[in-house]
Amino acid sequence: MSDKNEIDKVSGVETTGHEWDGLKELNNPAPRWWLWVFFVTVIWSVGYWILFPSWPTIGGATQGLWGWTSHKKLAADQGEIAEMQRINLGKFSNASLQDIMNDPELYAFAVAGGKAAFKDNCATCHGSGGAGSKGYPNLNDDDWLWGGTLDDIFYTIKHGIRSVGDDSRFSLMTAFGKDGVLKPDEIEAVTDYVLTLSGTTPKDSHVQGQQIFQQNCASCHGADGKGMRDTGAPNLTDKIWLYGGDRQTIRQTVTYARKGVMPAWKGRLDENTIKALTVYVHQLGGGEEDKPAQAPKADPQQEPAGHVGADE
Ligand code: HEC
Ligand code: HEC
Repeated sequence: MSDKNEIDKVSGVETTGHEWDGLKELNNPAPRWWLWVFFVTVIWSVGYWILFPSWPTIGGATQGLWGWTSHKKLAADQGEIAEMQRINLGKFSNASLQDIMNDPELYAFAVAGGKAAFKDNCATCHGSGGAGSKGYPNLNDDDWLWGGTLDDIFYTIKHGIRSVGDDSRFSLMTAFGKDGVLKPDEIEAVTDYVLTLSGTTPKDSHVQGQQIFQQNCASCHGADGKGMRDTGAPNLTDKIWLYGGDRQTIRQTVTYARKGVMPAWKGRLDENTIKALTVYVHQLGGGEEDKPAQAPKADPQQEPAGHVGADE
């Protein structure tokens, strides 16, 4: 082997002079910049070993001069979040429902908290998207039994419907058949009339049915059958049915009544969670603007603040 290394004919690169069975190695050293980066990372890693926990030992790991631990980091992060929540919750407790609607930050906080609380507490009856099912009203539409303003919704959630407590929304439709108020043929006639309200072709009996309706039903459902929010009696003319609009189901409703119960959440959920739920339900699609004349009386009792979305 000569002291000057041979040049490879194909690539024009000098060989290292190493040869295995006729295969020769080209002399292509790593570029200088690459070597420097490599050295810097080596030095960096030594610095890291000294400052941070790194090498495993029998009793755990080397501690590092800075005393950093993932526990401390987590505690610091959690402290920051708790502080943010405290500030937000403080603002949230003091804000009226209307304040929350006007403040994008509080509004986002309410919708997120309300959504979580809805899943935990309401979805079993109203469906996870609030779309409802037989006997459980759809909360996405603007067809309200008891009213769709912020105050109405807040009141309904807090005190319930036909639930416990003097403040619960209350009205009871008579079980007209079971209690013997109407005879079977009268129930048939009033059923015919209810069917015509939502557009079914009238039968002869519906004239008698209209009289029965005016005498027995109009006090709650209104003379025009469009429902009344003071009594929670549904609109019978809009083809949106809580229990069903076929003859069989209406006959059954009039005979036995339904007495749907919405639980009162006061005492089970704190005021902040109820506020968040109110805003969440209001924005589902059917929320109405406040009409001060219709708003129920303000509730003087304030419950202590707690975490929004907490399931208590
Ligand atoms: C046990 C079943 C049940 C649960 C759980 C439940 N609801 Fe209800 N909810 C009902 C029923 C039944 C009605 C209708 C009562 C009636 O016929 O007037 C209702 C009515 C309502 C109404 C009034 C709708 C209107 O048209 O006026 C609102 C608002 C409402 N629920 C919100 C909620 C929220 C928010 C939760 C969770 C905190 C919840 N509900 C949990 C059964 C339930
Ligand atoms: C005291 C008030 C009141 C009176 C009187 C009353 N209702 Fe009702 N009605 C209601 C309420 C409240 C509901 C909501 C269902 C519930 O009780 O859970 C309802 C529900 C209904 C429904 C079911 C609607 C749906 O969407 O599925 C029909 C049908 C109905 N009433 C027909 C009548 C007829 C017919 C009469 C008269 C013979 C009558 N009601 C008298 C209060 C009343």
